Amino acid sequence: MTRKGIILAGGAGTRLSPLTKAVSKQLMPIYDKPMIYYPLSTLMSFGINEILIICTPYHIDSFKSLLGNGKQWGIRIDYKSQPNPEGIAQAFILGEEFLDDSNVALILGDNLFYGNNFENDLNDANKDKDCATVFAYPVSDPTRYGIIYFDEKTNDVIDIVEKPKNPKSNYAMTGLYFYDNKVINYAKSLKPSDRDELEITDINKIYLKENNLKVKLLGRGMAWLDTGTFDSLQEAGTFIRTLERRQGLKIGSPEETAWKSGFINNKQLKNLALEMSKSTYGDYLLNLLK
Ligand code: TTP
Repeated sequence: MTRKGIILAGGAGTRLSPLTKAVSKQLMPIYDKPMIYYPLSTLMSFGINEILIICTPYHIDSFKSLLGNGKQWGIRIDYKSQPNPEGIAQAFILGEEFLDDSNVALILGDNLFYGNNFENDLNDANKDKDCATVFAYPVSDPTRYGIIYFDEKTNDVIDIVEKPKNPKSNYAMTGLYFYDNKVINYAKSLKPSDRDELEITDINKIYLKENNLKVKLLGRGMAWLDTGTFDSLQEAGTFIRTLERRQGLKIGSPEETAWKSGFINNKQLKNLALEMSKSTYGDYLLNLLK
């Protein structure tokens, strides 16, 4: 069974206004790359080569100018617009035709993942066929997230609560989700919540009820950043800059990921690098070939 990817990159970005008045949040720079490069590289890093970008109708042309049809990176990129931000779970309804009978990995366009062993966790999740796999990450402010409650003795998941007022756990659900194809019908069965959205938490609760929800804990060696506020946007940029300058390695480069995954060959990488020869990004890609 193939697994296709969806990047959900719509939304209003109201917390970043006025930055987001004319430009999509997911096109903002995180140090040396547009934000969407990071979730895109994450999907590509475990072999997904068919990806649907869902964004607002106002920004679709900008995303197309940036990413094209994906051929330059040896993948296929399709686009679908979401006229109104009616919920994360709407992605599966908008993506029904694209997904066809495939399984899916959904990633939020403003989520950055970085860390040791993450690719192993992803590869394990990718192999799970008939279930949902989600990732939990400890956060200091659990009232802002979908929070996962565990049984104290067995560590089994017992509940998922959206933005709890009195949280009983500090494990947040991150913006990366693996589902089998049943998720399309589950999404269609949902009713909008009080805030008029099709909630991803309701999808996860269906899998939980059916005993088909796997939760993987992301530990200390991992960074999960979301970039929805002025401070988190700036912090993500600083974090990436610090790591990249220290190590001399780039994080979230689709060109490098495509090359390492075997989607493109040396010659294709060289051509991509030469297109950016006046930028240190291009120099970096050229150096990979040495
Ligand atoms: P949010 O951060 O919840 O929403 P937002 O990006 O519109 O920002 P704000 O709260 O400042 O208005 O969304 C998380 C991610 O999911 C983000 O990448 C946008 C995306 N998203 C959609 O594309 N469509 C939707 O219907 C929703 C709810 C989110």
